[in-house]
Amino acid sequence: MARRNLKGARTVVTGASSGIGRELTIQLCERGAHVLATARRVDRLAELERVCAALPGKMETLSGDLTDPAFRSRLLAYCASNWGAVDVLINNAGAGAIGRFSDASSDRLRRVMEIDFFAPVELTRLFLPVLRQGRRPAILNIGSVLSHRAVPNKSEYCAAKFAMRGWAESLRVELAAQSIEVLMLSPSTTHSEFFESLVDTKASEKSKSIGSMSPKRVAQLAISGLVRSKREMILSLGGKALVWAGRLIPGLTDRILGRFA
Ligand SMILES: NC(=O)c1ccc[n+]([C@@H]2O[C@H](COP(=O)([O-])OP(=O)(O)OC[C@H]3O[C@@H](n4cnc5c(N)ncnc54)[C@H](OP(=O)(O)O)[C@@H]3O)[C@@H](O)[C@H]2O)c1
Repeated sequence: MARRNLKGARTVVTGASSGIGRELTIQLCERGAHVLATARRVDRLAELERVCAALPGKMETLSGDLTDPAFRSRLLAYCASNWGAVDVLINNAGAGAIGRFSDASSDRLRRVMEIDFFAPVELTRLFLPVLRQGRRPAILNIGSVLSHRAVPNKSEYCAAKFAMRGWAESLRVELAAQSIEVLMLSPSTTHSEFFESLVDTKASEKSKSIGSMSPKRVAQLAISGLVRSKREMILSLGGKALVWAGRLIPGLTDRILGRFA
């Protein structure tokens, strides 16, 4: 398949105010894309706008909470009236939580599911009509290695990321006839603000994740996958090792993970 040309591609990036989303926005603008960057923190989006002003692409921002259906509708209305069609939707915004399921409230599960699952899924539902009008349209979902293999003390996050992957796999086949590609990128631990904004997590909880990639590297791999229409990308050797160990030697993997828990 021919490579996707991102020059002029009308692209929505969620979670653009930090980490992977910020880097995705910068690198898309470097390639001449037309990006609508969204997140809640207005000051961060304004700073990003200044960075992108010097790049070949175009960048606009719209701030709000993606878990709010009214904000999702505003995003769609903005794209429909300013662009008419959308070429790429990147569902990147997300948040984690750490700690035992038995010690957590049901509110934590609901909040993680809202931002990591219902928000991207319902945003995608809204955007399907404008994506159908797009040029070689694609939906890129940022999952996690934990979309493929769950680990202890992150049950809510794993559940949400597994759900995202199941939904994306189903949607990929449903949308193939309409030529909308559904891609999924699964990073492993990434050095971002992710571990500073954990939902309902005690300060004493530390992630036992090993290694970490830079958001810049994750964004490079995401864009390379988008250009090549790679349907599933699991990043990092450690991430791949965890996923394959979970498939081939699940009992031993459980025992090893149990030691970290
Ligand atoms: N960091 C990791 O180790 C890691 C590993 C695998 C996968 N991932 C995934 O990668 C994606 C990006 O994470 P990151 O590492 O770049 O973390 P990050 O730096 O914390 O970025 C998360 C982004 O999501 C936005 N966001 C969170 N809640 C939101 C809400 N309710 N409404 C709108 N925007 C919201 C945040 O912006 P505001 O706070 O300004 O709203 C921020 O821009 C997430 O889906 C995450 O699950 C991360």
